[in-house]
Parts: sequence; structure tokens; C-alpha cells
Amino acid sequence: PLNVVVAVDGTSGSGKSSTCRAVADRLGLRYLDTGAQYRAMTWWMLSNGIDVHDPAAVAARAQDPQIVSGTDPLAPTITVDGTDVSVEIRSDEVNGAVSPVSAVPEVRARLVDLQRSIVGDGGIVVEGRDIASVVCPDADVKVYLTADPAARAARRALENGGADVAATEASLLARDKIDSGRAVAPLTQVDGAVHIDSTDRTLDEVIELVVGLVMERV
Ligand code: C5P
Repeated sequence: PLNVVVAVDGTSGSGKSSTCRAVADRLGLRYLDTGAQYRAMTWWMLSNGIDVHDPAAVAARAQDPQIVSGTDPLAPTITVDGTDVSVEIRSDEVNGAVSPVSAVPEVRARLVDLQRSIVGDGGIVVEGRDIASVVCPDADVKVYLTADPAARAARRALENGGADVAATEASLLARDKIDSGRAVAPLTQVDGAVHIDSTDRTLDEVIELVVGLVMERV
């Protein structure tokens, strides 16, 4: 699978990160979490007092933060201007602001360039919303991963140390709505993508399915 590019798109909490990290580890590939980059951009905007609901204000500063992603699937890292923000980017504030920031075309243009430079010649599993549609349209394997909202909220709440399931579901659905409805690079299943619904599958079953798809295609 040396130079393979595996694109995994899907809704929040569908199991993308856990699946992608395990698949990359199993196959000796790098791993890129593009959502973490949009979160890092959002964290920087909030930290610098930019009004995240003002697209022009966000666009004007989209070039400023230096975002660096580590691609080890067992220990992915993300820094902004040299500061590790892995924990901060998962806060409620960032959850509430990331979709409007991600809808700004200048933000997307900057991060898509960064993502393509990291993908380079391949050997990577990339997760996001627009990987198969925009970032890597020539990806060797394209997966569209979904799950029912209740299942996604239950998983995310557990990950967040027993957070309220109803509030978590509301937050996920609010992000899905903006991510799927935006004008630029909305979340969508492209032709050629394999749809996997993880609602009634264990993580291991989903990992096996994706590993199988990669092995078929290399
Ligand atoms: O994947 P994650 O849930 O961490 O992504 C957070 C947010 O980043 C998404 O809700 C979406 O608004 C944005 N995003 C995006 N395009 C990507 C990855 C994430 O717009 N490729």
C-alpha cells in the first residue's frame, strides 16, 4: 500500500478518527486529521478575538496562524504557532465555532493547500468532509462513513468523559447541518465512494472493511 491515498469523509462522530488511525497503523501509512486543522484555525480565531460569525473578518486573518500537523497515527499532533493545541481544539467553544469558520472560502483554500502538501506522493489515510470531493479527488480508496445520530452522540459523549448525550447530539447535528449545507465543499458522498454505516458495526468490523478495501485496490 506504499503510496496509496485513502480518503475517509463523513459526519461528526461516525468513527472516522478511530477507524483512520487504526487503518493507517495496520498498513504502515501516515494519518492526517483535517478536522483538527479546521479546529486549530478556529481556536486561533477565538484566541485572537476575531468574530467567527463575520466571514470577512475570518477571511482577512486566514493566512496568519502557522498550523503544523504530525502524521503518526499512534500519536497525531497539532500545533499553532508552535503551541500544541490538541486538547484546546476539542473544547465546547471550538465545537460551536468550527463550522462557521470552515465555511469561509479563504480558510478552506489555505487548509486545502496545506493538506495537499502533506499528502504529497501518498502513503496516507486522510479524514475530513471534502477529501474525496476536493482535496484528493484521485484517492485510491474513498470511504463515506456515517452512523445514526443517536449512536454518534452516545460515542462522542463517552469519549468526552460522560458528557450529556442529548446536548452532544444537538451539537453534532448543528455542525452536520452547516457542513452539509454550505456553498463551498459541502459534505457529500462522491461517485466511487464506498458507504459504510457504522451504526450496527463494531470499530473492529469497520477497520476490517476499510483495510479490505485498501488491500483490494493495491
Ligand atoms: O472531523 P471534525 O468533527 O473534528 O471536524 C470539525 C469541523 O471541521 C467539521 O464540523 C467541519 O465544519 C470542519 N471540517 C471541514 N472540512 C474537513 C474537515 C473538517 O469543513 N475536511
